[in-house]
Amino acid sequence: MKEITILDKTFVESISETNLQARIADLGRELNRDYAGKDPLVVSVLNGAVLFTADLLRHFEFPHELQFIRLSSYHGGLESTGQITPLLDLRGDLGGRDLLILEDIVDTGNTLAWLRQHLLSRGAASVKMATLLFKHEVFKLDQAPEYFCFRIPNEFVVGYGLDYAERGRQLRSIYKLKA
Ligand code: PRP
Repeated sequence: MKEITILDKTFVESISETNLQARIADLGRELNRDYAGKDPLVVSVLNGAVLFTADLLRHFEFPHELQFIRLSSYHGGLESTGQITPLLDLRGDLGGRDLLILEDIVDTGNTLAWLRQHLLSRGAASVKMATLLFKHEVFKLDQAPEYFCFRIPNEFVVGYGLDYAERGRQLRSIYKLKA
């Protein structure tokens, strides 16, 4: 089992690069079916979704616009705390547009709920989310992400865009904190 150390913590590989890329390709095919004939605005949430966005987009066969949004990070270490505010917001008129949000992980769902409300209030016709990872046991809300690649248990994970204290985003696999 592959192990890595980041700062003071040891992590073990939990989802390999091969499995990640295979599921991302599956999701790309699903989105190609669902967005055929549409021209959505794809909203990638910085920083964590950068690698997922780059790999997923290369499967898209439908026209789309890409923009990035950055929210105040409220996951400093291993726990989530605090409020959400936009640090970089979307440009232009969202009126009547179909929005597809890309996330690395949905945990409590606070960010997803905030984004849905924020984007619908700016006039979006529809707001859906595709996330790489979905911590379904922790999720507290009614409306789950419409698309996800992997459901994972409530473990701290790093790699493929996800960080521990801003380190480890470059890793090609997902690693979990060693018990
Ligand atoms: C992470 C992740 C989501 C959010 C999910 O972002 O990218 O945006 O937390 O958690 P929730 O479902 O409990 O709201 P983070 O604030 O760690 O910023 P980052 O993407 O820059 O690492």
